Amino acid sequence: MSLLKQLNLSNLPNHIAIIMDGNGRWAKKKGLLRNLGHQGGAKTVREIVEVCAEINVKYLTLYAFSTENWNRPKLEVDLLMKLLISSLKKELKTLQKNNIKLVTIGNIDSLPTKVSAELKDVVEKTKNNSRLTLTLALSYSSREELIKTIKEISLKVKNNLISPENIDESVINNHLYTRNLPDVDLLIRTSGEQRISNFLLWQIAYAELYFTETLWPDFNKENLFKAILNYQNRERRFGKTSEQVK
Ligand code: IPE
Ligand code: IPE
Ligand code: MG
Repeated sequence: MSLLKQLNLSNLPNHIAIIMDGNGRWAKKKGLLRNLGHQGGAKTVREIVEVCAEINVKYLTLYAFSTENWNRPKLEVDLLMKLLISSLKKELKTLQKNNIKLVTIGNIDSLPTKVSAELKDVVEKTKNNSRLTLTLALSYSSREELIKTIKEISLKVKNNLISPENIDESVINNHLYTRNLPDVDLLIRTSGEQRISNFLLWQIAYAELYFTETLWPDFNKENLFKAILNYQNRERRFGKTSEQVK
């Protein structure tokens, strides 16, 4: 039986987040420049976004560029930014056709103006789409997001707009970049690394984690179905006993 047929479509993770890793190693293995690995990775993004829309996953969040990635060689950063612009230009049609809304999280103003302008354009043009919310994490750092949140809330406390005893999870949620997104259900990382690399630390509190050796440019819809199947065979207890959740 095909993997898709084995999926329980009424129990899909509502929000899948992916740390897309391994582009560089994929290129190296083939004797290619790292940049070709990133191009291969962009192809994977297209396939995974389309299949998520097809099977009706509601939220897909992709870690595309971390704050720490600014420390890579300038040439690689420049090429990544160029790839981002060309992908956005190319994919706008597909996003519209598939009713996909693009949003971003991260310090978008720190991106080159050409990139942030292109992003704002696609975000604006797709804002009324409703089938799938595709979130790109760009110049994103979870700790930076938390610091920003704490600063904003502190300022509100100082100005008597909120009292400290009223600070709860929802107040924090409402100040994060992800304020309009639900918690992550399934976090996937490709390439064999088993770490979080400063991604969505607050939002993955109860996510199921899935690590695969597959390098991101080789990842395809079958790999995604395998990850979802694995997720569906887990019992999410949220602190309760197995008997309670059955
Ligand atoms: C992920 O692939 C893409 C980005 C971080 C932008 P890498 O470029 O990290 O690939 P590896 O880890 O070097 O193989
Ligand atoms: C994490 O990948 C960031 C993205 C996938 C965009 P890295 O390859 O930069 O992570 P580390 O530095 O190896 O943990
Ligand atoms: Mg990497």
